[in-house]
Amino acid sequence: MKVFKVHRDVHDALKEEEFKTIGLVPTMGALHEGHLSLIRQSVSENQLTIVSIFVNPTQFDELQDLENYPKTLASDLNKLKKIPGSVWAYTPSPSDLYQDNIKAQKYDLGPLENCMEGASREGHFQGVATVVDKLLTLFSPTRAYFGEKDFQQLKIIRRMVQLRQLNVTIVDCPICREDDGLAMSSRNARLSPKERKLAPVIYHTMLKAKAMKEKHTPTEIMAWTEDTFKEFPELTLDYFSIVNQENLETIEVFNEQINARAFIAVKLGDVRLIDNLKF
Ligand code: PAF
Repeated sequence: MKVFKVHRDVHDALKEEEFKTIGLVPTMGALHEGHLSLIRQSVSENQLTIVSIFVNPTQFDELQDLENYPKTLASDLNKLKKIPGSVWAYTPSPSDLYQDNIKAQKYDLGPLENCMEGASREGHFQGVATVVDKLLTLFSPTRAYFGEKDFQQLKIIRRMVQLRQLNVTIVDCPICREDDGLAMSSRNARLSPKERKLAPVIYHTMLKAKAMKEKHTPTEIMAWTEDTFKEFPELTLDYFSIVNQENLETIEVFNEQINARAFIAVKLGDVRLIDNLKF
């Protein structure tokens, strides 16, 4: 496996070898099975897979959150080395991507930007769109892979790709879960053992909420979910929304024409966890 710190070295290496297809897997490191499944899928579909590991400062609205984000580069690279196939790691410094202007660009992301994660984390999606745009522009991959755990992020990235008319296929990959149902996330590593035991309540509450779908309206289910979380003082519900997954607008009724999906964000200790489930 080759490891590059600067994009120019990636370009030089690409000139030396002929790859017909390139898969890009953007990550912020602290790699877990969810990332590895995206990387394996990319390896199976492309001649070369580039995995970027970069904790992107412009998508954090709180400095504390950026500082607390787990950074485990040595162990990440060890995990990548074990994946059979052509995998390169790109681990840039902020200046390799942003030069001396560490700022998000401005995209017209429309209403997708301001609900749910966007409402709770100001400027977050402009930062995500900026860094993904930079990575796609630098490497012109055939395909880029993202997990559905960050479903809203996926919609934002598709929108940015359309606005910028980038020639890439965005591949969305299903959520990977631990045996007890908790959605895999780099942030899980920051949970205390007690918090880790409690965290699967998030997924199990969503499953119960989904089971209510036949007899209850989205509004009733949302109210039930809010009440349920009051029974767990350690878990602070930020939002639970049932939306049309095409435009992320809240829905009033379930019907066959609407692809409903529930989204949740919960604070557990000082760790913010998100999840979603097709309804
Ligand atoms: O999902 C993530 O890890 C990040 O938001 C991404 C897509 C790598 C951009 O920094």
